[in-house]
Amino acid sequence: MTNKNAKRTGMASSVVSYPDRGPWGNSKWRGNASGHLYRELFEQVKPKVFVDPMVGGGTSIEVAQEMGIEAYGLDLFEGFDAVSDDILTKVGKHADLIVSHAPYSGMIKYAAPGGMWGDKNDPADLSQCIDDADFHEKMQMVLLNQRRATRPGGYYGTLIGDWRRGGKYTCYMAEMLARMPSNELAAVIIKTQHNCVSDFKSYGAMKMPRIQHEYLCLWEKRSVSAVVLLSTIVKEGQQRVSGTWKNIVRLVLQALGGVAPLEKLYAAIAAAAPEQLKTNQHWRAKVRQTLQLHADIFQRKQEGVWAVA
Ligand SMILES: C[S@@+](CC[C@H](N)C(=O)[O-])C[C@H]1O[C@@H](n2cnc3c(N)ncnc32)[C@H](O)[C@@H]1O
Repeated sequence: MTNKNAKRTGMASSVVSYPDRGPWGNSKWRGNASGHLYRELFEQVKPKVFVDPMVGGGTSIEVAQEMGIEAYGLDLFEGFDAVSDDILTKVGKHADLIVSHAPYSGMIKYAAPGGMWGDKNDPADLSQCIDDADFHEKMQMVLLNQRRATRPGGYYGTLIGDWRRGGKYTCYMAEMLARMPSNELAAVIIKTQHNCVSDFKSYGAMKMPRIQHEYLCLWEKRSVSAVVLLSTIVKEGQQRVSGTWKNIVRLVLQALGGVAPLEKLYAAIAAAAPEQLKTNQHWRAKVRQTLQLHADIFQRKQEGVWAVA
């Protein structure tokens, strides 16, 4: 039987909201998070050792210390680069929980002139990434770094939002999920955002609702070797690419009326998926291989002529 009057600890559901950020950390640190998020996460996961590799105004560490958790806060402003410096070496031991909170859209600058604390253009600063692709790549390195410093059975994760600008919507979380081993994903928690700068803009004329959420993504470190981990990541990436090829060939063949000679198929694919072809000079062979591999989808009608089965 549940006692309705008992004080709840931990996260009750996968959707959380903290209108008040609480007393922890520096509330003037731009992009700071609510301490309640960390408090409930710590209640849930019960770490003995916690690391925040992008500690900013120190919210997470103050909450952890108040709860008697051994906590380590690192940040680029102290010279620690979570992309290229090893967390495990820096902390000197494995942690039970490692959570990062990266500057994800470049909207708030940190090391840059006029930024939160810096005065230089620093390629290590995640708020100064060249573009989204640069950020996605660096964050994969950060998450693998966090993972390496987590004990087997412990959790590593990140707090991250979405961004829309000039009609382009970027879901950073989706990119991270695609780059990390899917069998380690433990939870995606949606957190309502309060008190953002964007809250004060006028949204009357907007076509789509404004973004008012972030995600806390958590992975559980399974006890596998680095080699197995990397081969899982590579295999999942390859499966995604080959699945994309299968869909491209099928869609183009359907658009050609369901049956077409190879030359016509090549020409239509070249027009439909130029980005896909740039990275694969042997793409014609890839098309033929895709047709031959998926007998449930594609059928050879005669020499050099293929149809959707
Ligand atoms: C959104 S803030 C973190 C705020 C923090 N959660 C809080 O409540 O105050 C992001 C932090 O990432 C740091 N940062 C940017 N690039 C970094 C890197 N490569 N390595 C470590 N920290 C980095 C910035 O200096 C900034 O303090």
